[in-house]
Amino acid sequence: MPPPPPPATPPQASLPGQAPLPGTGSISLRQPDDWHVHLRDGAMLEAVVGATARQFRRAIVMPNLQPPITTVAAARAYGGRIRRALPPGSSFEPLLTAYLTDSIDPREVEAGFREGVWVAAKLYPARATTNAEAGVSDPLAITAVLEAMERIGMPLLIHGEVTDPAIDIFDREAVFIERHLAPLLQRHPGLKVVLEHITTSDAVEFVRSGPPQLAATITPHHLHINRNAMFQGGLKPDFYCLPVAKRELHRLALRAAATSGDPRFFLGTDSAPHGRSAKESACGCAGIFNAPYAIESYAAVFEQEGALQRLEGFASEFGPRFYGLPLNTARITLERQPHAVEPRLALADAAGAPVALVPFHAGETLAWRLVC
Ligand code: DOR
Ligand code: ZN
Repeated sequence: MPPPPPPATPPQASLPGQAPLPGTGSISLRQPDDWHVHLRDGAMLEAVVGATARQFRRAIVMPNLQPPITTVAAARAYGGRIRRALPPGSSFEPLLTAYLTDSIDPREVEAGFREGVWVAAKLYPARATTNAEAGVSDPLAITAVLEAMERIGMPLLIHGEVTDPAIDIFDREAVFIERHLAPLLQRHPGLKVVLEHITTSDAVEFVRSGPPQLAATITPHHLHINRNAMFQGGLKPDFYCLPVAKRELHRLALRAAATSGDPRFFLGTDSAPHGRSAKESACGCAGIFNAPYAIESYAAVFEQEGALQRLEGFASEFGPRFYGLPLNTARITLERQPHAVEPRLALADAAGAPVALVPFHAGETLAWRLVC
């Protein structure tokens, strides 16, 4: 019997990190990690954790719960709840963080790190964002904590916005860098710092020209939208997050940084789900739920920038290297398979009660699909 004819359009079996031919193909990547996510707690945790665990091997889990994670015991318990909420057989590993307050004891921060309960600590300027009421009034107030972290090599993760009401909301990141971050790095030259979810060209420039122990995460939404998205054709609360998206020139600077291959910029989704009534409200919550299609969303950006060959570094290598963790060995595959994103996801908690969330890219078509 003659051999069967080859398929008309053979899939492009890509090498790791290699760009497929235009219009076809698949991409194989070392499994990525998410270096910034909000998994929440209770029913919301049960509804959303699967979306993150399906794509990412590990994730840095933010501690801004109600009440925030300020003790080793609370973090241990939260880690247990996350593990119990995972789909059966999942190998997902939550990497927990401590929530810094003015009064947190440096010994508690250090003990949790040494015991491997948390891997980093998060600095929220007080009142900067969701559940940040108990945050830090001024970084100077936690100098003893920062000295301990510097000594033990524990990374500091920063929500970089001033809360001064006199500062325009679109300038809060740039002003934070100037007023707080630059002096903090001078005071603690050995401290590992991640400026989280950067949104401006100012932040890109600052990180690029900064010391090697400074890095930044970049979200998918800040790569896709500028501030117009919140106001296009009416008020769009699903595009409201903090730091708020900025003007187009900043989005372009973020895209250039993310796709440049510079290891100081790596993946952190800042996926931050809120229920419908919390988003569609006279005082709507900040946060974009991008976990369901996060890697596809990043892939779209890298493809549009002609940089698919650099997606693997950004998604799977630069983060673990910064944190001093091993690279993942498992791989994932993305296939070119255009698919429409649901306007609403009907998720459920562990008891089957519905949790409806609007995913980022709702109603759009994404070109790549995660297949395994
Ligand atoms: O948009 C945001 N949502 N930004 C944050 O900093 C916090 C997050 C949340 O927890 O909802
Ligand atoms: Zn966040």
